[in-house]
Amino acid sequence: MNAPKIKKLVAGNWKMNGNMQFNQSLINELMYGLSRQAQSGCDIAVCAPSPYLLQLSAMLHGQPEVTLGAQDVSAHESGAYTGEVSAAMLQDFRVRYAIVGHSERRQYHAESDAAVAAKAQRALGAGITPIVCVGETLAEREAGHTEEVVKRQLAAVIHVNGHCISEIVVAYEPVWAIGTGKTATPEQAQAVHAVLRQQLSAASEHADRVRIVYGGSMNAANAKDLLAQPDIDGGLIGGASLKVPDFLSIIAAAR
Ligand code: PGA
Repeated sequence: MNAPKIKKLVAGNWKMNGNMQFNQSLINELMYGLSRQAQSGCDIAVCAPSPYLLQLSAMLHGQPEVTLGAQDVSAHESGAYTGEVSAAMLQDFRVRYAIVGHSERRQYHAESDAAVAAKAQRALGAGITPIVCVGETLAEREAGHTEEVVKRQLAAVIHVNGHCISEIVVAYEPVWAIGTGKTATPEQAQAVHAVLRQQLSAASEHADRVRIVYGGSMNAANAKDLLAQPDIDGGLIGGASLKVPDFLSIIAAAR
């Protein structure tokens, strides 16, 4: 059974979108919208491209309602890793969350389960909460391998981070639902979340407080039903997080 009082997390994943002016208007509009909503009953984050972390860190300073996230973190501490961004660097900009193992990174940058686990470990070591993404492709779902795939992906992270596994956020993101407009039904998502919860329970007595969020075409229209599921503790929102009214509706549904 899910603990009744888990605080939901709604995190926007901007991916490779935005620019200085767009970001500024988005945050201003978001803060204005939030000031008109009832007190937030959920945590809110925006995961921005690295070059804008400084801008956003300054804009969000003194705005505790919205926290800052990164979209990736290096598995290495420091040194000759051209193009990479370390957990300590993210820490400098008051980054609270780092997405790790997003399917776009697994697919386009060949990130292995072990690399994702190492990234989660680096984030945790710097006091940054990793949002660990897991999810099956359409072919894997159709072949009946969904459970096996997500469990293998999560197992790698548990293996390396076992002692502090309750500090992570897990994002179930079926690859076939990302950016496609095809959302998992609440029942399909809940079934996988329950599997992940059970796997976490075997690893930690605090599994009840691990947030397992859903991502994949979550939007203003479907958020409420998804978030009503007992093991869905929030959302990782791509496209809809770039449209403030939609993002605000999702936040409202999570309260
Ligand atoms: P989407 O992306 O909401 O645009 O499907 C979610 C994600 O990739 O994190």
